[in-house]
Amino acid sequence: MDKVYVGTNWKMHKTIEEGQVYFRELQEIAKNKDLSMQLFIIPSYTSLIPLKREIDSNILLGAQNMHWEDEGAFTGEVSPTMLKEIGVDLVELGHSERRQFYNENDQDLNKKIQASLKHNIPPLVCIGEHIEQKEFGISRESLSIQLKVCLKGVSQEQVEDVMIAYEPVWAIGEGGVEATSEYVHQMHNHIRNVLVEMFGHVGNNVPILFGGSVNRKNAIDYLQGENVNGLFIGRSAWDLQKFEPILDDIERFIQNSKVAK
Ligand code: 13P
Repeated sequence: MDKVYVGTNWKMHKTIEEGQVYFRELQEIAKNKDLSMQLFIIPSYTSLIPLKREIDSNILLGAQNMHWEDEGAFTGEVSPTMLKEIGVDLVELGHSERRQFYNENDQDLNKKIQASLKHNIPPLVCIGEHIEQKEFGISRESLSIQLKVCLKGVSQEQVEDVMIAYEPVWAIGEGGVEATSEYVHQMHNHIRNVLVEMFGHVGNNVPILFGGSVNRKNAIDYLQGENVNGLFIGRSAWDLQKFEPILDDIERFIQNSKVAK
């Protein structure tokens, strides 16, 4: 894969003003980065329009969620047509916090994924096993089920627009436990196998990103995995003083891999 994706989900953090300050600085940083590094940010809905107006770099902008219907009596929800109007580049679907606090399930996600693809908004589909599933030794089975239900009915052509974020639920956020890189590489290989089983050779073109307590100490170890095509970062990316050194490390990693090729 030609690109290494590096993105951040702001969750429910940053006002419009805070987001703009961050974004202006990140755009400056991005201008000097290797073009093989594809940056993206996923702010709250309120920041999407102001940030979209300021884009002056190749940073992609994504929304954190989306309803599957174009319009209707769904108070508090945002539709694909509304996101399309803003011009977002992608939409994050199925983050574990959405699943945990808002009862989203794989069947809902399947409807959302179908809707995003119909509207040409590439979905970043989040999957991950719970700690109990890991302890029972059924992480792979859990990931297979999530992929097979979420991506049911997606065509080979459409899957080229899909990105997967593998985020083990037990590794995310405050209190999350860092996964070993060996474990992450194994799960990414499994996800790749399922994608190839479902979509044939085009399954190899779907980027698989890793997220969950990514920080400067572990980022490059995770990226060494053959099927780790990027990183999806929360806390370590919200402050640019922490994020910039990670981006510098990733850039060095990309350049060294190019030399090695
Ligand atoms: P943390 O990096 O803070 O664990 O969050 C990861 C995440 O949830 C990205 O979506």
